Amino acid sequence: MRTKVGVIGLGVGYALACCLAEAGYETEGVDISSQVLANPRTDHSVMRLHEYDSAHRNNISKHLRLSSDYERLSDRDFTMICVSTGDEKELIIGHVRDAVDSYCHVAKSGATMVVYSTLPFGSSRKIRQIVEKNGLTLDQDLLYVYMPLMIAQGTTVDDFVNPPFVAFGSYSQTSAESALLFYKEFITSSSLWNKNLPPMFVSSPETAELAKLTANAFRARGFTYVTDIVEGQILAAEKIDDGTAVNLGWDKRYKIRDVVAMILDIAGHKPKVVYDRSKPEGPFSRALDISLAKRLLDWTPRIDLRQGLKLTIDWMRKQNLTSS
Ligand SMILES: NC(=O)c1ccc[n+]([C@@H]2O[C@H](COP(=O)([O-])OP(=O)(O)OC[C@H]3O[C@@H](n4cnc5c(N)ncnc54)[C@H](O)[C@@H]3O)[C@@H](O)[C@H]2O)c1
Repeated sequence: MRTKVGVIGLGVGYALACCLAEAGYETEGVDISSQVLANPRTDHSVMRLHEYDSAHRNNISKHLRLSSDYERLSDRDFTMICVSTGDEKELIIGHVRDAVDSYCHVAKSGATMVVYSTLPFGSSRKIRQIVEKNGLTLDQDLLYVYMPLMIAQGTTVDDFVNPPFVAFGSYSQTSAESALLFYKEFITSSSLWNKNLPPMFVSSPETAELAKLTANAFRARGFTYVTDIVEGQILAAEKIDDGTAVNLGWDKRYKIRDVVAMILDIAGHKPKVVYDRSKPEGPFSRALDISLAKRLLDWTPRIDLRQGLKLTIDWMRKQNLTSS
């Protein structure tokens, strides 16, 4: 009999639930919000997955059920927790605590709980306490794994099915191996699997928590100098008269830690750089596709990041907006 799976929290968790159903797993999605259940969040990659699935397998409609009923998770072998953990300013464990607590009341003996939500450092210890308060022994009655997967808006499906690597943080080798085998089976059953098995690592939950948080320093973004944007907007106003939207920006990506190093180099400062582990992550990599702007407007940005930073820092110094 095929593994039965559940997903709690249907923001980015809805993409995961669709991927699991598409791969053929009986999937129960649970969310406390009736609005989310009526209208789960879908990005382009989820829409494309639905289109693909309805043309080929119809697995999503066949295998995915959504509800607010935790009881439906009582026969699940694997349940993934993807509930919210805060905003741009603060990471909180509150929703994960509630979800783990509610799940502990219904979890089948020996089931595996995989937490995907981004957690403040040290949360796995708190999760262990919640499980034990419910009279369950962690990694015996309920296996626990923290999975620091990087998911970006717009590519959620691919990020779940074809991740560059996967890591499993667990207090128990057995729990980690059970999650590892399951993930391997899941991605290789997906129609969208790219036939490359990602490297898979097992670590302590704390190392996995830290891996997710510090990965933010490796996140990549595109940066564009303001005059390039103004020039592009003027060209768009002159050349586009049917409301077509175009992206304006550099398509080149820079890792945040490299931008920090560049700013310090240009400014001539050598402070100690400290990573703030309390902050949540954002999309792994974000830069624009500017092919339409090149074609319709004959526009490309001209001032690269280093030049733009230099112009900005010089301007700030002239305005006395810096300390040196
Ligand atoms: N959005 C992303 O691209 C992204 C990427 C990587 C990681 N994450 C992480 O995944 C987690 C979820 O992010 P999101 O963007 O999907 O958040 P979200 O707020 O859009 O969705 C979370 C869902 O969880 C539901 N929920 C909250 N408490 C619940 C409970 N006790 N039981 C059942 N459902 C509950 C909410 O109703 C909501 O629909 C966060 O920790 C986030 O940091 C998000």
